[in-house]
Amino acid sequence: MTSKQVSIAVIGATGYTGVELVRLLQEHPQVKITHLTSESFAGKKFSECFPAFSGRVDTTLSPLDVDKMAKDLDLAFLCVPHQEAAKTVKLFLDKKVKVIDLSADFRLNDVKTYEAWYGPHPHPELLEKAIYGMPELQLSNLKNAELIANPGCYPTACLLAIAPLAHHKLIHLDSLIFDAKSGVSGAGRKLALGSHFCEVNENFKAYGIGKHRHTPEINQGIKKLTGQLPSITFTPHLVPMTRGILATVYAQLKSSSTHQDLLKIYQDYYQKASFVRLRPEGNFPETREVRNSNFCDIGFHLDTQNQRLTVVSAIDNLIKGASGQAIQNMNLMFGLEETCGLLQTSPIP
Ligand SMILES: NC(=O)c1ccc[n+]([C@@H]2O[C@H](COP(=O)([O-])OP(=O)(O)OC[C@H]3O[C@@H](n4cnc5c(N)ncnc54)[C@H](OP(=O)(O)O)[C@@H]3O)[C@@H](O)[C@H]2O)c1
Repeated sequence: MTSKQVSIAVIGATGYTGVELVRLLQEHPQVKITHLTSESFAGKKFSECFPAFSGRVDTTLSPLDVDKMAKDLDLAFLCVPHQEAAKTVKLFLDKKVKVIDLSADFRLNDVKTYEAWYGPHPHPELLEKAIYGMPELQLSNLKNAELIANPGCYPTACLLAIAPLAHHKLIHLDSLIFDAKSGVSGAGRKLALGSHFCEVNENFKAYGIGKHRHTPEINQGIKKLTGQLPSITFTPHLVPMTRGILATVYAQLKSSSTHQDLLKIYQDYYQKASFVRLRPEGNFPETREVRNSNFCDIGFHLDTQNQRLTVVSAIDNLIKGASGQAIQNMNLMFGLEETCGLLQTSPIP
């Protein structure tokens, strides 16, 4: 890609991930925001809905009209619910517009697995076109992809925590426990009883135990890294904070090791990963240390007596867990610098 600007649309621009994309993209030097869509607020300026953007993003929100939009678009970011996303992906791909889909519709390669967790897939024939967009796992070349499936927020925190060890087959795959906690923005902006202030404030609960839809995505990621389907326990929790995910991962090592050995394995694996930061021994990340950034911070403790490992990873669910990772994927898709437009947002401590 040369100096040409990438002309983009955000579909579902009034949701949490959509707003976050707009916030980050309006400062991206190689992006032109061409269309922002909303069904509920069509006709209003984006800045009328979100006055923080007054004078910065005054684009008028329009309803989805793929025929009209496709004429001047390179890429559409889809920030709408699953199922709805798959239908829209098809419309854009038919018009030769590339897509980064933030929903779950194209993350799982196997249609049977998708349908077991999400219901009938509107366009299973497109699954083979989709590339899973977690660049740090180095599983596929994102350049020139037509359709990128942007990973889920929990799978991002969980897989990055464990990928180097899985890749080198150093852990027992039946020993993995993912204990993860998310801020409430993970549930989206739509109204739901479980996200009401009084339901969430001063409360802390596990939810979706044994049936959270990110389970097959974590399984698939580990299988891609190891060649083997793992047997995991994944328990998400809701924390009374707006944004952030902290994942605590427990794993049994296959053979004895030291903290130094493992740190070297993490350092080598993430050598080229601009957004993964490793903590020194005895130091563990907190969500506020990555808030408002595309970083995933990782620290771990090795119980040398039992060869049991505790890995802690922290991300901002709306950035590395969604919109920031989507921009990272866009950069790679269009041959731009991977970090372009993403390093200006420092964490808010
Ligand atoms: N929140 C997160 O942390 C996170 C992380 C990773 C991935 N995701 C995924 O990203 C997608 C967007 O999530 P979000 O948190 O931004 O959701 P959200 O805050 O609930 O926003 C969803 C957006 O989609 C539009 N929309 C809602 N229902 C629709 C429908 N039936 N058809 C078309 N448009 C509809 C809504 O706006 P209008 O009514 O104005 O059109 C809204 O702009 C979801 O698939 C979600 O699973 C979310």
